[in-house]
Amino acid sequence: MKHLISMRDLSKNDILHFIETAELIEKGKMKPNLKGKLAALLFFEPSTRTRFSFESAMKRLGGETLTMSGTGTTSAKKGESFADTIKTISQYADILVIRSVLEGASRYASEIVSIPVVNAGDGANQHPTQALLDLYSIVKTQGTLENITIAIIGDLKFGRTVHSLVYGLSYFSPRFYFISPLHLSLPEHIKNELHSKNIIFEEGREIDNLVNKLDIMYVTRIQKERFADPEEYEKLKGSYQITSNILNNVKGNFKILHPLPRVNEITTEVDNTPYAYYFEQAKNGLYMRQSIISMLLLT
Ligand code: NCD
Repeated sequence: MKHLISMRDLSKNDILHFIETAELIEKGKMKPNLKGKLAALLFFEPSTRTRFSFESAMKRLGGETLTMSGTGTTSAKKGESFADTIKTISQYADILVIRSVLEGASRYASEIVSIPVVNAGDGANQHPTQALLDLYSIVKTQGTLENITIAIIGDLKFGRTVHSLVYGLSYFSPRFYFISPLHLSLPEHIKNELHSKNIIFEEGREIDNLVNKLDIMYVTRIQKERFADPEEYEKLKGSYQITSNILNNVKGNFKILHPLPRVNEITTEVDNTPYAYYFEQAKNGLYMRQSIISMLLLT
């Protein structure tokens, strides 16, 4: 595998291989050596966890990073095209990690440069490195990826982490509950794909009477920046809020995941329950990104 652009490009074995490598790295049984390697991190959209964890991943394995955050300080400001910027920066690095508002930006970049490209989020489309760390977090908390009952809650229309996670989990016979406002439902093309794979899912608006069936509750932020109409966002922004009093009868293995950032969809008192796993999940991002970078650069 040369690039990591979409979960749709990965086989079940690819996913398991990324997870096994992350696990070996986390346990200290494997330490890939990235000395002399440079990653260019090109973030055309805001990021905290993805950018910092890629930087940390690279540096902790002996590699180095070049970082661009926003376009304010590059020649994009002077009118340089995305293609020219990408081609130029690819001359200075061994791997490109790209986050863009444009769907397909990383795929396009992978077609015009000769070094590996990692998609760190392209608009509302895909975020495969997040999905891989989410899957790693599921394995760590459930002991398996197979037959998980999971509710995915929030912005299923614009949430790229959701799209990637749904594709990734589809290999492992999941039972999905998709909970969102009607206008933020999972895109039809993804539902069609689930139908074609005979994967069971239900769509709904309410979470309360579901909670005690779940292994995983995956909560997401309403993606404010993707709304064309700010009034529409205002109407939908408070649609869901997870509070500790809906967590009374949950299963023993139950965990709450969230790709973060959180706005108000999980109250902070939930952080102190044994079910909150989102900060550990963010830490798993370090090991998963070490796994991804080393597999693309060293194999
Ligand atoms: C997500 C993203 O950028 O899509 N953040 C992340 O990478 N952890 C989720 C979000 O912004 O809501």
